[in-house]
Amino acid sequence: MKIRLYLLTYVLIQSLISFITAQQNDAGQFLIGAGIYDITGQVAEIGFMGYAVPKQRGHGLLQRMRSRAFIIGDINREENRVVYVSVDNGMAFQIVKTEVIDRLNKTFGSNLYTDKNVLISGTHTHSTPGGTGATALVDITTFGFVKENWEACVNGIVQSIIRADKNLQLGRIKINIGQVDNANINRSPASYMNNVDRGEYTDNTDHEMTVLRFESIDGKNEIGMINFYPVHAVSLNNTNLLVAGDNKGYASYLFEKLKNPSGTLPGQGSFVAAFGQSNEGDVSPNLMGPKCIDTGLPCEFYTSTCNGKSEKCIAFGPGKTMYESNEIIGKRQFETAKDLYDKAQLFINGNVNFRHTYVDMQTINVSSRFTSTGHNETTCQAALGYSFAAGTTDGPGDFDFTQSSNSTNPFWQFVSSFLAKPTEQQIQCQAPKPILLDVGLIKPIEWVPFVLPHQIFQIGQLFIVGVPGEFTTMSGRRLKLTIKQALQDAGTWTSDSHIVIAGLSNSYSHYITTYEEYQQQRYEGASTLYGPHTLAAYQQTFYDLSMKLARNETVPSGPTPFDMRGKTFSFVVPPIWDGVPIGKKFGEVITDVNSSYKPGDTVRCSWWGANPRNDLFTEKSFLYVDRLINQTWVPILTDDDLETRFLWKRQFIDQSIITVEWDIPTTQQTGQDLYRLRHSGVKNNIFGRQQYNAQSKSFTINN
Ligand SMILES: *[C@@H]1O[C@H](CO)[C@@H](O)[C@H](O)[C@H]1NC(C)=O
Ligand SMILES: *[C@@H]1O[C@H](CO)[C@@H](O)[C@H](O)[C@H]1NC(C)=O
Ligand SMILES: *[C@@H]1O[C@H](CO)[C@@H](O)[C@H](O)[C@H]1NC(C)=O
Ligand SMILES: *[C@@H]1O[C@H](CO)[C@@H](O)[C@H](O)[C@H]1NC(C)=O
Ligand SMILES: *[C@@H]1O[C@H](CO)[C@@H](O)[C@H](O)[C@H]1NC(C)=O
Ligand SMILES: *[C@@H]1O[C@H](CO)[C@@H](O)[C@H](O)[C@H]1NC(C)=O
Ligand SMILES: *[C@@H]1O[C@H](CO)[C@@H](O)[C@H](O)[C@H]1NC(C)=O
Ligand SMILES: *[C@@H]1O[C@H](CO)[C@@H](O)[C@H](O)[C@H]1NC(C)=O
Repeated sequence: MKIRLYLLTYVLIQSLISFITAQQNDAGQFLIGAGIYDITGQVAEIGFMGYAVPKQRGHGLLQRMRSRAFIIGDINREENRVVYVSVDNGMAFQIVKTEVIDRLNKTFGSNLYTDKNVLISGTHTHSTPGGTGATALVDITTFGFVKENWEACVNGIVQSIIRADKNLQLGRIKINIGQVDNANINRSPASYMNNVDRGEYTDNTDHEMTVLRFESIDGKNEIGMINFYPVHAVSLNNTNLLVAGDNKGYASYLFEKLKNPSGTLPGQGSFVAAFGQSNEGDVSPNLMGPKCIDTGLPCEFYTSTCNGKSEKCIAFGPGKTMYESNEIIGKRQFETAKDLYDKAQLFINGNVNFRHTYVDMQTINVSSRFTSTGHNETTCQAALGYSFAAGTTDGPGDFDFTQSSNSTNPFWQFVSSFLAKPTEQQIQCQAPKPILLDVGLIKPIEWVPFVLPHQIFQIGQLFIVGVPGEFTTMSGRRLKLTIKQALQDAGTWTSDSHIVIAGLSNSYSHYITTYEEYQQQRYEGASTLYGPHTLAAYQQTFYDLSMKLARNETVPSGPTPFDMRGKTFSFVVPPIWDGVPIGKKFGEVITDVNSSYKPGDTVRCSWWGANPRNDLFTEKSFLYVDRLINQTWVPILTDDDLETRFLWKRQFIDQSIITVEWDIPTTQQTGQDLYRLRHSGVKNNIFGRQQYNAQSKSFTINN
């Protein structure tokens, strides 16, 4: 009996071992590297990219913006490498991508990291300084191009890729797929409802999160994590004036903090965690949904208005304040990602490959095979509809515009007076969109891009689809089905194959709705630039691209996109000189801290300082919370930590009041330890540019 039990155990263990070995053998080997770098632009005075609200301009910083780069290389073919980069930015622009590629060419030569195998995807935070896009429509509310912000972004992306390249090692990738609970809702259900295929899905947003776990070949060293999950990074609304990565930036921060050795300051660890954006076009994090702010009643369903006004219809939640909502939605993504990461078992295995092509979106003949009408159709000369100016329930427009309608307003009417009048052909092609802005001509500069990048990566059984805009939930699902069909037709689709969409990649062309959603002409439909068959055109191009990828055939490079470098406009005034009141010095305290605080208190100190636009403090910090450990002041928190805030306020013409705040966590250890707040800046005036350093008195934290 005993012997039989022993034998049985032996057999079981043996089969377990051979099972594990088989699993190991199935684990593909890749060259893997991850890198992170600071891309924070000017945190004061510059308008934020996203809500298009000119008065939403920087007054400080809640969190730094980062570029997170991952290189994945085929170990057998040097040229088969892909680079996925997630940036804490509204989106990736062509003018950023083009310059990044030129600089990578200078560093690595022209074959290694190219336009075709580098994918740059924006997280879509709406709380970062703008002016980096160059096309008129995106830069108009920041009063034009802001070269310093563009440079910070370009340089940071390049540096993150250089770091990822330096860290290249032999490694493995695991993939895991799961559901995020309660972190997104559909903000245009009135459009979604029109979809003929809605019955095939249980929900009107995607809850699926795909997690990639990167580790060293022996599995001992964790390198990084990427996940894909669709939700607008608009937990912070258009009244927020502090630079931040929104819910995705916060989730990355939490994951990197968890995985890097304790005591590592944010952004300085080698483990990199990217929370990548996906098909978030109609997806909001404001879970309580839109309500009329005056009456508390639901808004009108089709137009998202209250008493005919869109400004009154705003979505909130799930927190009491937007900062709380930001942390809740960030945490929900973080927790699911962590769980999927910890439990990941399936190895990615197979070749690395990629395909990329540029397409002129205004002149595509779309085959009846892909259109919703059953006819052959064409795309249109670009135009924006009236609902574009209404904004969304995540951030309504400032003016009297409503969704699903064609009312007018003075600002955009004024803008439209610079543009061509739409032609009869364009009106018919774009119907039922009432045209507000005819952006289809370069007059006097490019308003929106026309030549758009289409890109697909293959990493074993995983396909990453880089799209230059915001696909709605259903648009993303249909595009994935088309790509799956192409791979099935080519005979390379397997039961393990998996497709993810990387949204807001490489260039920005606003929204892409389905044909049926387009008919509703809400914000997303009005912002679908190239007419009702825009999505079908993408499906057609990606069918071809995926087929050629599967068959290892070449694709044409396509037309060259318009190069905006050197053709930008700007009315942004540079920072003026810095001054302090008579008798004061830079760095002198205005209001100091108290000598003792309790956990849960906010510590605050303010100084006479300078305009933070003078120096971005890239890879550094405008503030530190220091703790005295064994007679040495050790920085424990930076401006990247969410419990600290760096605030800038102008006084008179030239004076800057800098305030640093720290919300002491309720869990903070109490005792006799001393703490202090510190700030550094650069002042610039007729006596020259100079760094100044400021600090508070020391304080303790007691009960
Ligand atoms: C890379 O740089 C070289 C030298 O400046 C240039 O000749 C070449 O065209 C560049 N390659 C690409 C792909 O831009
Ligand atoms: C932004 O959020 C705050 C709460 O944090 C709220 O009081 C305010 O009304 C919101 N504003 C807009 C325009 O969404
Ligand atoms: C689209 O079709 C029209 C009419 O058949 C043709 O003239 C045109 O060249 C086509 N355009 C493209 C980009 O193939
Ligand atoms: C669409 O155009 C193709 C190629 O010109 C043609 O073969 C096909 O019959 C057309 N489809 C329809 C529904 O007209
Ligand atoms: C605007 O809407 C009205 C009816 O609501 C319609 O008669 C008019 O033609 C529309 N204008 C445009 C430019 O579509
Ligand atoms: C794919 O095509 C390239 C040339 O276009 C060739 O060098 C490579 O060996 C091919 N790969 C495979 C797996 O056949
Ligand atoms: C210091 O303590 C007083 C009284 O508790 C409080 O009113 C004040 O805001 C505190 N000052 C700072 C800078 O925290
Ligand atoms: C402080 O120094 C002592 C003696 O060198 C050492 O044992 C202790 O670990 C140090 N404490 C910290 C927090 O570094």
